[in-house]
Amino acid sequence: MVTRRLPGPVEERLARDYDVVAGRDDRPLTLDDWRARSAQADAVLCTPADRVSREVVELLPPTVRIVATFSVGYNHVDLGACAERGIVVTNTPDVLTDATADVALLLLLGAARRAAEGEALMRARAWTGWTPTQLLGTHVGGKSLGIVGYGRIGQAVARRALAFGMTVHYLSRREKADAGSPATWHPDETSFWPVCQFLSLHLPATPETRRYLDAARLARLPRGAIVVNTARGDVVDDDALIAALKSGHVAAAGLDVFDGEPDFRPEYADLPNTFLLPHLGSATFETRCAMGYRALDNLDAYFANREPKDVVRRG
Ligand code: DGY
Repeated sequence: MVTRRLPGPVEERLARDYDVVAGRDDRPLTLDDWRARSAQADAVLCTPADRVSREVVELLPPTVRIVATFSVGYNHVDLGACAERGIVVTNTPDVLTDATADVALLLLLGAARRAAEGEALMRARAWTGWTPTQLLGTHVGGKSLGIVGYGRIGQAVARRALAFGMTVHYLSRREKADAGSPATWHPDETSFWPVCQFLSLHLPATPETRRYLDAARLARLPRGAIVVNTARGDVVDDDALIAALKSGHVAAAGLDVFDGEPDFRPEYADLPNTFLLPHLGSATFETRCAMGYRALDNLDAYFANREPKDVVRRG
């Protein structure tokens, strides 16, 4: 069972190697859709836009042995419910690191340089000409970037930020070996927040990280900080970030992910100092094909009685 349309080459490989029940309509599935489409299934290939809740897992037939998500994040899958049913869960790490890091930089630059306001002006055909004071943003070179969640994507963001002349700081329980990217390690929060002129979030969404960036942490950022989120919307306390954007304590935010997406807080769209994208982190043709192949490699391994490379929860 495949929940969504996938890039052409991935669908071709799927059709070659599997009997596929696919949602051609590319929309969120109802419980009845799950029940009907999984009825004959041995495996489910889902995406981060599909909530594989306990209710969904419990209506899957016992023939389903593996859920392969077309994503690195797996907060949309109830791992506990899968484990109870003996279902293996796999994800697609590594292959979207660079694409997502590119979007983090896009957001960082776009928020700093007021790209959304500039673009809106052009689309409204309202530009009356260059002036020395028009849409002045913030320089990024020479500024400090704080990264929370210094894994693959966080480190790829650091490499890019260093190339723009930024200094990089990261908050982490353990120091990460310097893989050619000089960055300052902060084992605790006291020294970290005040140095973050820019902040980029790369935390996984878990019950512990829900609303991680809250009013207290935002207050410890220097005034005029710029916040970027390409991780998951629910790691941000939207009320607190919107208040900080309104007061100017946070000068701007670049957001690719939203709590409850595709719904999101309307204030984000109303505020001038936001740069918003619709969860495009991994959205290049090459990356989405690589994600599909990685998910299929995991399915292939499982059905060939080999250990899939990317098991996040054993069945
Ligand atoms: C993931 O893989 O978790 C991403 O959010 C998809 O872009």
